[in-house]
Amino acid sequence: MKLLVNIDHIATLRNARGENYPDPVTAASVCEQAGASGIVFHLRSDRRHIIDEDVYRLKKSVKGILDFEMAATQEMIKICLDIHPHLCTLVPEGREELTTEGGLNMNVVYSDFAERVFPAFKDTGIGISLFLDPIARDIELAHKLGANAVELHTGRFANALDPEAGRLELDRLAAAAIMIHEAGMQVNAGHGLNQKNLPLLIRHVPHIQEISIGHALVSDALYDGLGSTVRKYLQLIDTGLK
Ligand code: PXP
Repeated sequence: MKLLVNIDHIATLRNARGENYPDPVTAASVCEQAGASGIVFHLRSDRRHIIDEDVYRLKKSVKGILDFEMAATQEMIKICLDIHPHLCTLVPEGREELTTEGGLNMNVVYSDFAERVFPAFKDTGIGISLFLDPIARDIELAHKLGANAVELHTGRFANALDPEAGRLELDRLAAAAIMIHEAGMQVNAGHGLNQKNLPLLIRHVPHIQEISIGHALVSDALYDGLGSTVRKYLQLIDTGLK
């Protein structure tokens, strides 16, 4: 299981004062040096954290996996094709939301993705991952489209108010992960993960290949330092897999 660090909130902190620090690209290097397998960023339409210049600098500097998270707009597709990351993770994006609030509704986006989005990426070598809730019908449609990966939305598990609700959501995630794997797609997961809930996820959900963590990891880094926080998460993954 590989750890990819989402560096959006390093940019949030930078933008809060309109300064050029902390620099998300420097932070990405620190994460990679500490052992992270790659970096994720979400270039939002409103550019509230990561900005275009960061994206071009990340492309030059990131040595491991680069995962470009974005809404499937023509503007973003153009930038993504120019950047040529390893993976493009498509997410729904709402202007008022504080963060991505759920997976794509595949019934709604399917025909647009089939006619406009997937053809734009054909033969580019960029893998396409779809951010989905653990819903069988959505996974079937992702497979039908030819997605390379599905990133399972772990937010509902992470935010579950009682242990029983958390366990039910873990069961749904596990069943979805098996289905994605059996369909020949890569299983990724992310949203709301932290040092407390990550071990539970790892123990209960099989086949996860890449895990994407941002807000909690960047927050922990304020106390422990970024490199040592990344090493802590890597240790949790290692221990959880044993
Ligand atoms: N995966 C996706 C698709 C996301 O939108 C986000 C949030 O940007 C994450 C993972 C990371 O979530 P968090 O910041 O809660 O760790």
